[in-house]
This record gives sequence, structure tokens and C-alpha cells, in this order.
Amino acid sequence: MSPGPGGDGRIDLRSDTVTRPTAAMRRAMAEAEVGDDLYGEDPTVRRLQEVSAQRFGNEAALLCPSGVMCNQLWLRVLARPGSEVIVEADAHLVNYEDGAGALLAGVQFRTVAGRRGLLDPHDVAAAIRPAVFPLTPTSLVCVEQTTNRGGGTCYPLERLAALRAVTAEAGVPLYMDGARVFNAAAATGVDVAEYGALVDGLMFCLSKGLSAPIGSVMVGDRAAIEEAVLWRHRYGGAMRQAGVIAAAGLVALEQMTGRLLEDHVNARLLAEAAAEVRPDSVDLAQVETNIVYLERVDASAVVRRLAEHGLLAGAMDPGTVRLVTHADVSAEDCRRAADVLRRVLSAP
Ligand SMILES: Cc1ncc(COP(=O)(O)O)c(C=O)c1O
Repeated sequence: MSPGPGGDGRIDLRSDTVTRPTAAMRRAMAEAEVGDDLYGEDPTVRRLQEVSAQRFGNEAALLCPSGVMCNQLWLRVLARPGSEVIVEADAHLVNYEDGAGALLAGVQFRTVAGRRGLLDPHDVAAAIRPAVFPLTPTSLVCVEQTTNRGGGTCYPLERLAALRAVTAEAGVPLYMDGARVFNAAAATGVDVAEYGALVDGLMFCLSKGLSAPIGSVMVGDRAAIEEAVLWRHRYGGAMRQAGVIAAAGLVALEQMTGRLLEDHVNARLLAEAAAEVRPDSVDLAQVETNIVYLERVDASAVVRRLAEHGLLAGAMDPGTVRLVTHADVSAEDCRRAADVLRRVLSAP
């Protein structure tokens, strides 16, 4: 196997968060012009925020340390404490944020089961509850683009527009956890600004498929972002010379979004290899971006045997293994990984 990014020869497909900053990012970080961002004086942070807002066709943006912080800040800003937030049952917000929504934003989640992580507008319309005492009212609806536990699936624009119509009719804002929104844009050919136009708030991650070391960005109206600045400070997320982070983020936006389709092609290669030997383990029609789920497998045994062949994957639950392609695994790495998959999945 070719040396992985860690130089230990392993191919790491556990997540796109394992990507390391590129040489261009490291140079930009070293040379970044910085200032105290708490005073609004870091020119590189300001530039990243301006570029992000422009890219999504929105008024303002805010750099945060992580995707979870962005999600939590948006819950604070868009939802009301003591109300209900509708999310798809597999959403990151409800499954992987350690109960933060309840603890920090004071909301309860109402989960609605979708298909492959995607909410159906009719189900959302039926789940929204009015502010009629003593019902717990709905104050926010959230979508994830692309879906993580849903297998990297994308909301088509028409589905988002239908969700927008449903939420607008009910007077409830719509939020997008767009951790991998650039993967969705690459897969569907839709400009991210079209997604931005359909939601009341959005966040995207620089530190996943875009390879930056740190950072996620909130994008929205100026008033909402101003409120988020206060909450980010209360949560301890205000940073000082954060231009060193923002510099890598700018390189991510300039140089890394255009290559995401390569990751999608590589993911399909892996899925097809799995389908060849275990057709029941993967639904090829659902592999839209850089995430492949192998289902109906003995997850811990498969992950262990893949690791013995130098291929790292993640066990999501006892029957499901996740493989995620990214910039630090080449097409050649993925061809080798596909060979390993065939060998491991065809073994008795
Ligand atoms: C859909 C989704 N939202 C939010 C996050 C959180 O991002 P972070 O790890 O930067 O906090 C992740 C992380 O994997 C994610 O997949």
C-alpha cells in the first residue's frame, strides 16, 4: 500500500476529518496577517467571513472552532428554549452532540424518521406543532446536507424548497447543518448559494473534505450572526489571532471544493467492489457522495480484518461499517482498498 498521510502505510477511510492541511494551507497559515479577533481586528478572519457570506449569498458569517459549536449556536439563535426542534432521526444534532441541544439551548428534539437521513416535507408538516397551550411548540426544523448517518445522501433542491414552503407556512425557521454541503454541491451541480437562499441559517465545515485543520463557519442574516457572536463568547469559542486558522480556511474554499468529485468517484469504486462480492451489503443507488455504508455485515469483525490489511474503517453499529473517501486517499489507494474489501467481504 502507498504510504498514507500518516506515513504508516495505512489507508484511513474512517472519516474525512482525518485529512491533514495541504502544503498551501501550511504556507498560508505561516504567513497569515493576524490581529485580535475578539476586537474584530483579524483581517484574515474578516476575509474568510466575507468570502463565506458571499459564497452562500448571505449577509454575514462567523468562524467557529467546530461544527458542533456552529450547530449549537444556531440552536441558541434560531430556536426558543422550552420548545421543540424537528430533526431527522439519524441527524448529527441529536445523535452525536452529547445532549448539548437540551443542555445548552434548552430545546427538546422531536425526531422524524426519513429515508437515508432525508426528511419528507409531508412528515415535517404533520410533526410541526402550534403554540397552543399546553403543547410544546415547534420553533425550528433542521436538515443535514449531506447526511452523515444517512450515507452521504443529498437533499435535492426541490425537496428543500418544499420543506421551506412547509416551514414558512408554519412560521418556523429552517436550518441547514451543512457540514458537507460542498459535497452536495459537487454531486448535484447546485450552487451552494441556492441552498443558502432556502434556509434561515447554515453552517459548513472547513475541516472535513476541504482538508483545513480546524474550523466551521456559520452563515446567515447580520442580526442572527451578531447574536451568535455573543453566544460564541459565552460558550468560550471567541478566539484571538484566529487568522492562522482562517488562512487555511480560505485556501480550503479556493482550492479544495473543486476536487470533491474525485472523492465521490473513489467512493463509488469502493461501493462497487463491495457489491460485486456482497450485493446485499450496499445499495449502489444511495452512494451519492464520499460516504459508503456496508450494511448487514459483522461490523467489528469486518473492521478488524480490514485493519489487518492496512485499511481503516469505522463500525457505526453492530451491523454497519462506514468508509469515507477524502483528499488524503488517492484513486490508487482506493483501488487497493477495493481489492482488500473484495477479499475481506468474500471470506467466509
Ligand atoms: C453532519 C455533521 N454535523 C456536524 C458535525 C460536527 O463537526 P465537528 O466535528 O467539526 O464538531 C459533523 C462531524 O462529523 C457532522 O458529520
